[in-house]
Amino acid sequence: MNPVVTPETISLVTGDEPLVELLTKPGCPVCHIIPGIPGATGQVGPPLVLGTTGPQRINDPGYRGQAKTVHEYIVESVLEPQRFVVQGYPEKTMPTWYGSKLSALALEKIASYLERQTEGSSAP
Ligand code: HEC
Repeated sequence: MNPVVTPETISLVTGDEPLVELLTKPGCPVCHIIPGIPGATGQVGPPLVLGTTGPQRINDPGYRGQAKTVHEYIVESVLEPQRFVVQGYPEKTMPTWYGSKLSALALEKIASYLERQTEGSSAP
C-alpha cells in the first residue's frame, strides 16, 4: 500500500474544507482518477465515476452490501471497502480507517460529488 496514506499522516477532514480538499486531504487521488480534481490520476483503484459505475455495483449479483442508492454505496465503500471488492482491483488495499478521519458531513459531501461523476468525464 502507498505509505503516504496512513492514519498518522492524515488529519481529520471536518467537511468545511473546499471540495477539492475534501478529496485530496485524505489521499484519494493517490489511488483514484477523480474527474474535476487536479492530480487525481491514481490507477490503484477504479476511476471514481459512480454516476456510471454505481448502479452496476449495486446490481452486481456478487454485491452483498446494504446500499440501495449510489449515494449509500459510496458511503459504504469508503467506510467498509471490504464489503464489495470491485472486480479487477486488489482487495485489502483501500484504507479501512476512513471512518475515523472523515466527519459525517465530509462523507456526505464526498458522496454527493462522486455520485454525479460519469465515465465521459473520467479523462484525467
Ligand atoms: C491506497 C489506495 C486507495 C486510497 C488511498 C483510496 N482508495 Fe478507494 N479504492 C481502492 C481500491 C483498490 C478499490 C477497489 C477495491 C475495492 O472495491 O475495495 C477502491 C474502491 C473505492 C470505491 C468503490 C468504487 C467502485 O467503482 O465501486 C470508492 C467509492 C472509493 N474507493 C472511494 C475512495 C475515496 C473517497 C477515497 C479517499 C477518501 C479513497 N477511495 C481512497 C484504493 C484506494
